[in-house]
Amino acid sequence: MSIVTRLFTWIGAAASGAFAWKLLQPEFIQRSPSRFLAFAEKGRDGRLPVALITGASAGIGAAFARQLARAGYDLVLVARRKDRLTALADSLQQQHAIEAHVLAADLADSDDIERVADVIADVSEAGRLDLLINNAGFGTVGKYADLPFQSQLDMLHVHVTTTMRLTQAALPGMLRRRRGGIINVASTAGWYPLAGNATYSATKRYLINFSEALQAELDGSGVCVQALCPGFTCSEFHDREPYRVSGFRREQLPAFVWQTAEEVVAASLNALGREVVCIPGVHNRFIALVGNFAPRALVNAAWRRISPV
Ligand SMILES: NC(=O)c1ccc[n+]([C@@H]2O[C@H](COP(=O)([O-])OP(=O)(O)OC[C@H]3O[C@@H](n4cnc5c(N)ncnc54)[C@H](OP(=O)(O)O)[C@@H]3O)[C@@H](O)[C@H]2O)c1
Repeated sequence: MSIVTRLFTWIGAAASGAFAWKLLQPEFIQRSPSRFLAFAEKGRDGRLPVALITGASAGIGAAFARQLARAGYDLVLVARRKDRLTALADSLQQQHAIEAHVLAADLADSDDIERVADVIADVSEAGRLDLLINNAGFGTVGKYADLPFQSQLDMLHVHVTTTMRLTQAALPGMLRRRRGGIINVASTAGWYPLAGNATYSATKRYLINFSEALQAELDGSGVCVQALCPGFTCSEFHDREPYRVSGFRREQLPAFVWQTAEEVVAASLNALGREVVCIPGVHNRFIALVGNFAPRALVNAAWRRISPV
């Protein structure tokens, strides 16, 4: 083996080892609370900072709302189901001394995306937007050729267009204040090209790359970006029509793979400002590690054998 080959082998092995070590770090290692949870202090005008959460009517988004209300953030809650948002906003206002506003919007619709972007720009320009959480999302089940095109286009808008637009609306105000956090909820699916979930895994990959590149552009600006990559999480995600119709049941998977939405959100908020890619759970970090390093041909062949579609 030539010296150059040996050098590259050693560098590759060291980089893989370092990455594996980082990915497999257990979450029980004690850390000081994230500065974003200490962020929620009143501004000079005596008002609380604001967090805007998309997809706040259920699951991970509702857990973000609960944990941020507890930390002392005023909230803007966005989703389609206004009744759900209103019930959550009322209960959080009663439990915590915060204001929670409801913004009903379909984020597959370009007019509604613009409406939410306008609110974000106003709150950000007023110097109050500390957190933007691009969380709304949904899955479909089936081969791309068999799925209604509109469902895939809607997914692209909810996952990608919305994140792009809302992030751009939030940034000027955050950059001026030199503080703010943006969390883009991706998935462990973003580490794999998943047959049967082609658009889902591709849009989630977009969110990971976008977040990492954006953070590199924003280094030193006081604004932090995170790609949150949950694995299987108990929420309404797998109760929705595509999964119900496909006969999916949570018990089909071992219990240890399931995390609660509260666990996912606690890991995310704790990592914000420290890790650009947050993968809650050691098992999920292992899955991402394999997706990142295993040869594509091997991954695709293995997935073809186990894919349900
Ligand atoms: N659960 C998992 O296993 C898992 C794993 C990895 C990643 N994720 C990601 O986590 C995020 C949250 O999902 P979840 O697990 O909390 O699922 P969930 O319980 O089904 O919640 C999804 C949220 O997104 C909102 N939403 C969906 N389509 C929307 C649209 N067109 N316009 C506005 N809001 C919309 C829903 O609100 P309305 O229906 O009221 O509009 C709901 O509030 C998603 O991005 C998902 O891809 C979930």
